[in-house]
Amino acid sequence: MKKGVLLVADGNEGAGKTTILNWLYETLKQQMGDGMVILTRQPGGTPLGAKIRSLLMTADPTMEISEVAELLLFCADRANHCDTVIRPALEAGKVVLCDRFDSSTIAHQIFGRMRHEYLDAFKMINAFARGAGSGGEIMPDMTLFFDVEFERGLDRVRARNDGLTKFDAEEHAFHRRVYEGFQSQLAANATTWTRIDANPASEVVKTQAWAVVSEFLGIQG
Ligand code: TMP
Repeated sequence: MKKGVLLVADGNEGAGKTTILNWLYETLKQQMGDGMVILTRQPGGTPLGAKIRSLLMTADPTMEISEVAELLLFCADRANHCDTVIRPALEAGKVVLCDRFDSSTIAHQIFGRMRHEYLDAFKMINAFARGAGSGGEIMPDMTLFFDVEFERGLDRVRARNDGLTKFDAEEHAFHRRVYEGFQSQLAANATTWTRIDANPASEVVKTQAWAVVSEFLGIQG
């Protein structure tokens, strides 16, 4: 069984990845033992990250966050998370399940916000945030892309009725561009990305996700 592995789940709002990750986490704990798997997220996987998350998720008319500042805040969250949570877990041989990673920054801050001119700067800053300067760059071993028609995803978010984040509330065209951002990364990363069809009911999605994850980790049955 593989150890010290980073598995990322990403996709549009309402793709259902959080539900599936919770289930994968419980299932993997039974297979590998309680201490050998962690479930975490970006933004918000550290105490500092939780504060950054609340700054980023709530639209506050009295506090403008520029597009560059937004991108850098996601990178600051990632830097702290990679250094203080992900790297120690990988070094201890754990499987790390991470809800979103830098694939979300490319999808949202570059494609969603139509800031393709930021891409080169982002790549440099992101490598630094992933730990290029402090112990080696953290890279996902596999990214599960939860592919949902973005309108269906938005319907699911609204049906939850538990409040919309600043990103959930973005216009339709933003979510379409985010989706294109994920599709483009899927096409460019054929060896490390796997598409999960997230349109069906969650039981069907679980089966797909387990087939991929158990094979990747070398778990029998
Ligand atoms: P979620 O964790 O509940 O999906 O919410 C996180 C939101 O933050 C989601 O709308 C995607 C967005 N996001 C970005 O815009 N850029 C990023 O780099 C990350 C990690 C998330």
